[in-house]
Amino acid sequence: MSVRVPAKVNLQLSVGPVRADGYHDLVNVFHAVSLFDEVTATPADGLRLTVEAAPHSRVAVGGVPTDDGNLAARAARLVAARLGVEPAVALRIRKAIPVAGGMAGGSADAAAALVACARLWDDRDRPALTRDDLMELGAELGSDVPFALLGGTAIGVGRGERLTPALARGTFHWVFATADGGLSTPAVYAECDRLREAQGRAAAWPRVSEDLMTALATGDAKNLGAALDNDLQAAALSLRPSLRRTLAAGREFGAAGAIVSGSGPTCAFLVANEEHAADLAAELDGAGVAEQVVVAAGPVPGATVV
Ligand code: C5P
Repeated sequence: MSVRVPAKVNLQLSVGPVRADGYHDLVNVFHAVSLFDEVTATPADGLRLTVEAAPHSRVAVGGVPTDDGNLAARAARLVAARLGVEPAVALRIRKAIPVAGGMAGGSADAAAALVACARLWDDRDRPALTRDDLMELGAELGSDVPFALLGGTAIGVGRGERLTPALARGTFHWVFATADGGLSTPAVYAECDRLREAQGRAAAWPRVSEDLMTALATGDAKNLGAALDNDLQAAALSLRPSLRRTLAAGREFGAAGAIVSGSGPTCAFLVANEEHAADLAAELDGAGVAEQVVVAAGPVPGATVV
């Protein structure tokens, strides 16, 4: 049972006040892009997990845990517990999504593992898990997991797990510049809080950007580029100042929008069309401002059985 699952970029990530549970209330506009991990589940005598780079991808998988520190393993256990079966499965994860890159690769793998295990353990003697069941299990695992199941373009509120699909027209073309070494999501949120406190700025209650929604609905890359907004960007730049050069290079080479993806350090550039994406990728490669440069398009569907 193999499941393909996309990366995400945040078109808008507005971080509100810290809640009692330590999470932040968000307005998070997710957009799934054509950079895919694949998770294959096969029956085994116990829970086993292997991680490798996808063919033709140069993702560094060295730091990815192969025990319960991997969200995909926790996903398998959660499905097994819900169905009342043993988590006897071998999960093989093939990664093309950058690790700890701000593109929700770990959450994507968890979403794929949910779908793969639910299918693998599907049995006519008990009710199958529904899409809603999987969304609920996904939210237990992490804030970004439900979106990896859903895909497309969607607005997330709460922790980012309460989703509404957004109206989007056509295809948007992206270039992603990865950086050496990841950034820890909790560390970036903490830095965001620290910067706000140091500047005496209280967090405003987040609201969906009307300009962004209009640009999406009309398929206008130029306007969408101008409306991209990420409250975690300042924090990511504070922790990784070299990203300023990467963003500046993308703007200089004519990107319609340049933004840190999620908690970073991957930088995302929106361009007008596929040709421009290839040109910009070559320019960024040549400028030496990225570890790796990849092109992708969105929106694409969420976790899908292949
Ligand atoms: O939900 P998930 O485990 O993916 O979140 C990772 C970390 O990101 C949390 O531990 C928290 O530090 C931060 N976070 C947050 N507010 C959110 C989502 C994530 O502070 N809405």
